[in-house]
Amino acid sequence: MSSAEGKIEKDLVHLARVALSGRTQDVTALLHRFAKSYRENAPVVATAIAALLREAPTRSSPLRRQTEAVLPVDVDTRFHLLRIEENPLFEHEPVYAPEVKAALETIVAERRGIAALLDAGLEPSRTVLFTGEPGVGKTLAARWLARELNRPLLILDLAAVMSSYLGRTGTNLRHVLDYAKSLDCVLLLDELDAIAKRRDDRGEIGELKRLVTVLLQQIDDWPPKSLLVAATNHADLLDPALWRRFDITLQFPMPGHDAIEAHLRAVLGPVSEGSEAWSRVLAVALEGRSFSDIDRDVKAVRRKAALAGEAVDAHLPALLQNYAGTKAARINLAAELVGSGLLSQRAAHELTGVARETIRARTAPRPKVPGHG
Ligand SMILES: Nc1ncnc2c1ncn2[C@@H]1O[C@H](COP(=O)(O)OP(=O)(O)OP(=O)(O)O)[C@@H](O)[C@H]1O
Ligand SMILES: [Mg+2]
Repeated sequence: MSSAEGKIEKDLVHLARVALSGRTQDVTALLHRFAKSYRENAPVVATAIAALLREAPTRSSPLRRQTEAVLPVDVDTRFHLLRIEENPLFEHEPVYAPEVKAALETIVAERRGIAALLDAGLEPSRTVLFTGEPGVGKTLAARWLARELNRPLLILDLAAVMSSYLGRTGTNLRHVLDYAKSLDCVLLLDELDAIAKRRDDRGEIGELKRLVTVLLQQIDDWPPKSLLVAATNHADLLDPALWRRFDITLQFPMPGHDAIEAHLRAVLGPVSEGSEAWSRVLAVALEGRSFSDIDRDVKAVRRKAALAGEAVDAHLPALLQNYAGTKAARINLAAELVGSGLLSQRAAHELTGVARETIRARTAPRPKVPGHG
């Protein structure tokens, strides 16, 4: 081991100790020292640390200052009306249908190229509405936008806003939106339909009308520097006046075969030996399910495998159990399972109900026909 490596190892342990004790300022001081002392013997590490120190939000940086302002709370309950995610984390990159991806990228491009827009007397899109079934990535997309735009994500807890006393919901909502307007941020009004759904409850029609009025006003004068994202899986329940207000409305479709395959590859890649082949097979069987359903089922399988001390691959067939494809589709699936070496003929037969002879006939190497190839 070189002496530089030995030093890095020692420093790493030291850094861990200081970091775990929660002394952020000491961590920063230590990193400054490392950046200097590695310059000669480990220049790559030194440069990387120096870059991180430049970018990190410090006490005096705008991001820190912004989000340290007092969070709005309900006057009576003192519940926070907002949640802030400063550096959203992703287990893996989200997968989106091409049209959704293009729209999201346009939103980012408009913000990055804002100078050109302003020069042309234009503004970027300020408000977007995401609609779609549960678990297709609407909330995730807001998080993704915040990360791409390097802004904090503020999430309005509509339930908290609406649980407040009658007559106060409008005030609370205005309070939150005013706060968000004062920052450079992405504000997410998640589950916007909560407002619409309450229409049936306790005859609070007047209150809801006030709430919608506040929203309409706020959406209209939303400033171009921040991005307002609203999401709902009950677009049909929304007030049409509200719907019309948004600069962009984006419909998130249920994932198709290719999206599911790409997502499975990302999810299974790090944990499954045969992730490529399994992703291909499972994408067929799981079509029609949402990303979050799929994630939940994969997690359940991984837990089972971990408890049994077995490989994940040995438990993946369980994900095929509820497959209800047509006979022809089941034959294809069985052939693919055997053909790509994932399962034996017998296991494929038990799982899909396709006769072993049929599978054998489909997977046996075809005799070469003379004159072809
Ligand atoms: N497009 C996607 N790519 C990858 N993973 C996804 C995607 N969409 C959803 N997921 C997975 O499902 C989980 C739930 O997604 P998300 O919360 O974004 O759904 P949603 O559309 O907001 O649903 P809801 O309407 O129920 O709020 C995510 O945390 C992620 O694990
Ligand atoms: Mg959501």
